[in-house]
Amino acid sequence: MPLVNAKDMEAKALAGHYAVGAFNINNLEWTKAILQTAQELNSPVMLGVSEGANKYMCGYEVVADMVKAMIKSLNITVPVALHLDHGTYEGAKKALKAGYSSVMFDGSHYPLEENLEKTREIVTIAHFLGATVEAEVGTIGGEEDGVVGMGEVADPEECALLKSTGIDMLAAGIGNIHGKYPANWKGLQFDALANIKAKVGDFPLVLHGGTGIPEDQIKKAISLGVTKINVNTECQLYFQEATRKYIEAGKDLEGKGFDPRKLLAPGVDAIKEIVRIKMEMFGSVGHGND
Ligand code: 13P
Repeated sequence: MPLVNAKDMEAKALAGHYAVGAFNINNLEWTKAILQTAQELNSPVMLGVSEGANKYMCGYEVVADMVKAMIKSLNITVPVALHLDHGTYEGAKKALKAGYSSVMFDGSHYPLEENLEKTREIVTIAHFLGATVEAEVGTIGGEEDGVVGMGEVADPEECALLKSTGIDMLAAGIGNIHGKYPANWKGLQFDALANIKAKVGDFPLVLHGGTGIPEDQIKKAISLGVTKINVNTECQLYFQEATRKYIEAGKDLEGKGFDPRKLLAPGVDAIKEIVRIKMEMFGSVGHGND
């Protein structure tokens, strides 16, 4: 199946009470691991790409072409969306031009009017090209690729205004944080999520900072309307841990253990493992052909 936008998969997730995982990619190994796991589990999936990761992988066109070609060569038949994560106004336009099927325009740091206006423009371009748009109010806490958020909880009125720009998915801060959660984290603010849901109705809501959120909170968030959950750091931590073990066990020094295809294999398997855990937790397994 060629790249798809997120419209259909999000509508199905909303109706089926599960969430689609959006896993950030960093290179070919990451992309392959996530696509193969989605296929094995018959799950829809979104590949998230931050602007930093995009730059690292030599730009929007390289990423879009790699993902499209990999879907074809690996015979991936489950729905896959290629999604710009926390895009700037310029970045979102470049990603759309290069063939991304979905973008997040993160205007949460702009004054509300400017966020609404810029979001409207991105929506017009994206929809013309058949792509979907996620936008954000109420910043997500923590730091990701140099984007630092203070973690405000989104105002339901502002969520409704952002929805009225024509976006397809809404990211609203509810006490979630990018990266590892600190020991004193208070957990997701479900009353805030319920208030947002009451204001925007049945509409795809996005939960950022999926790393380390306990399963009961994930399930509750899905029951309150979350249909897309972003995971980045946890894949990195799994990759790092497995790679560290390989090297500490001296396996890179045995035979051809230095070959990057061998050296990176345990990390790739670890990414597959955490993606499987998350897809099962999010309930998207088996929904690839809905
Ligand atoms: P984590 O790195 O905390 O999993 O967050 C990912 C994310 O929200 C990407 O936008």
